[in-house]
Formats: sequence, structure tokens, C-alpha cells
Amino acid sequence: MTTASPLKYQLSDIDYDEREVEAVAEVIRGKWLSLGPKTAEFEQSLAEFLGAKHAVAVSSCTAALHLAMLALKLAPGDEVLVPSYTFVATANAITYVGAKPVFVDITGPDDLNLDPDDVEAKITPRTKAIVPVHLAGFPADMDRIMAIAKEYDLAVIEDACHAIGGRYAGVAGEGSMVAMVGTRGNASCFSFFANKSLVTGEGGMFVTNDDEIAAAVRLARSHGMTKSSWDKASGRATDYDVREVGYNYRCTELTSALGLVQLGKLPAAIQRRRALAARYHARLGGAEGLSLPFAPRFDRSSHYLFPVLVADASDRDAFRQRLLSRGIQTSVHYPPVHCFSHYREACPDATGLTRTVDASRREATLPLHPLLDENDIDAISDAVLCEIGAL
Ligand SMILES: Cc1ncc(COP(=O)(O)O)c(C=O)c1O
Repeated sequence: MTTASPLKYQLSDIDYDEREVEAVAEVIRGKWLSLGPKTAEFEQSLAEFLGAKHAVAVSSCTAALHLAMLALKLAPGDEVLVPSYTFVATANAITYVGAKPVFVDITGPDDLNLDPDDVEAKITPRTKAIVPVHLAGFPADMDRIMAIAKEYDLAVIEDACHAIGGRYAGVAGEGSMVAMVGTRGNASCFSFFANKSLVTGEGGMFVTNDDEIAAAVRLARSHGMTKSSWDKASGRATDYDVREVGYNYRCTELTSALGLVQLGKLPAAIQRRRALAARYHARLGGAEGLSLPFAPRFDRSSHYLFPVLVADASDRDAFRQRLLSRGIQTSVHYPPVHCFSHYREACPDATGLTRTVDASRREATLPLHPLLDENDIDAISDAVLCEIGAL
């Protein structure tokens, strides 16, 4: 896309200041840059924030997803249920271990998360796991998903990449009403990529309440070695064993230092995002030609993205272009994974998924980040209303 006017409203921006600069400078002065004490502190702080037992810092959410597949022993011949309405990394991680992604439709235009009825309908004797994605920060229906997983003895790996700080929706047992997203499945995976709500550039976190799974992931994260380089550099170990063929999915101390500062800012950032999203709802809710998905889950969301659906799919790209010419950047979350050429070839039986395809063709993501204010949202909303012909 080309822009006719300078960009006034970026899709996302990050809240960085001298605190991040100082945190990184402190690590540099300390001269230990790979996995070490800062990372241990970040892991512990994030586990406490979520109310989870274990958090293992890794190089990306994709790495966390891969490690989750390995730790839950998914292998060739296994089928894993996953929404097609997600970023491709969710499905790629399933493919890494030779398992087959079986794509599930979304619930509908009001709820872009995976449809538990379609999850149940696609279970076969080969199904081993479900990977719900809490799209845009809105929690998937984990009450239904966990009940299905229990009935059919399936693992649940949450792709919580968008949802740090979100809370589960649902009506099950007390705790689940308020628990943080990322604490109900066998494993959950978070991303700290450059445009996320908690940003370290690259980076991710694997989260679980299971001691054995956490130990397996710690081992696989760093070459299958029983001791880390930090253990050796700090004099706590002189040798190590290798128990399995592992990976280098370590994060750096720089990443963890940034993560700690960003984690401190997260609760206020989510509040800000929620207030801005509420303003969008007040301005855009009920407008002809536009719908706002996820309204019932509003209070539970981490408000990572603000997706809207235009009524006319054939106008979506032109609508985005018109907004861009007013200096408003938008995006599409997401083109369906099963429509990419690799997955069309690898999963030729992934047909149907009509609600996914329909929503994907109509979706546009509006700017949402903590550096915007209510006046910005009003200006963007006016432009949106004008460009769909509602003003
Ligand atoms: C839903 C989802 N899952 C996984 C990922 C991969 O995250 P990372 O870039 O940290 O590997 C992303 C990245 O944006 C994502 O949006």
C-alpha cells in the first residue's frame, strides 16, 4: 500500500522511556548477556503476575509453542486442532514436530475465536491436542475447551500471544472467573515481539503449572544440557550432562531486563487500552456497515488489537486505503492459515471454514496502543464512520 499523507496514527506503538534504557545499560555494565539472573527474575515475576507455577523465558512465542509440542509429546501421525484464524506460527509449531494441524472454524463474526462445537466435531482417534488462540486479547471459551479436552483426553496448549494480562471468560468454578489467561491449559505461550503489549523486541514465555513439563522445557530450551553457561560462569557448576537433543531457544539478559520494566508498566497499559477500546465502542458501536466483534468479552480482554468487520468484503481493501490516505494505519488479522499455499498443499482436506474466510475478508484492525488518547480515538472513529458512509 502507498500512503498519500504522512502517517498520523500508527497501528501500534510502544511505551519505552529511560527506565528501559537504564535497565539495559545495567545489564551491559554487568557484562553477562545470555540467560542468567535477570532472566530468572523475569520468569519469577511473570509467573507471579499470572498466578502460574512456572514460567520459562525463551527466544520467541514460536519457540515456546515448539517446546510445548515437544513437552506434550506430540509426534508424526498426531492431529492437533487449531484455528485457521491465527498467525501462521501457531500452525507451523504443530508442523515442526510432524503432527498435522486440523483447522477449526471460528464461532462467527461476533466471536473470532475457535468454535468449541467445531473442535468437538473434528476430533478423531488421532487427535491429541487443542491449541486455542486468544485472538486480539479476547479469551477463547476455555470452559468448553477444557471440558472437551477432559472428555477426550486431549492436551491443551494456549497460544496466549495476544493475551497477556487478559482474564478468562466463562462461568465455571470460581477461580476460572478471574484467573489470568495462560493458566488453564497444560501449557501457554506468550510473545514479546516488537508490537506486542509487553515488548522486548523478540522474546517469549512458556508457562505451565506442571512441574514435569516445566523441567522438560527448561532442558530442551538450552541444548538438553543439565547446567547453563551462567551456572558455569558464576562458578556454580564445572561440568554438565546432555540428556537429549535440545535447542538454542534461550533469551538474553537484555530481553529479560526490558521485560521486567515492561511488566511493571503492563497493568496501567492494559487499563489505558481498555479505556481507548471503550471509546471506540462508544463511537463505532451500532454504526451501519461496521460491526465490532467480541463485545461480550470486552471486560476480559487484554485489548491487544481492535478488530472491526466491514459489511462489504469487496470494499475492505479500499476502505483501508482510504483510511491510510487520511494518515491512519490499519492491518488485517489474519489471512486464514489454510489459504496460504503451503497449507493448501499440506492440508488439502481443510475446506469449509466459511466463517473464518468471511470474517478474514471483512476484517480491518484499527490503531490501538497506550500512547493514544481519547481525542485520537475520536479522530480515527470519525474517519472510519466517514469512510464507511455512516457520517
Ligand atoms: C497468535 C500468534 N501466535 C504466535 C506468534 C509468534 O510469536 P513470536 O513472533 O514471538 O514468535 C504470533 C506473532 O505475532 C501471533 O500473533
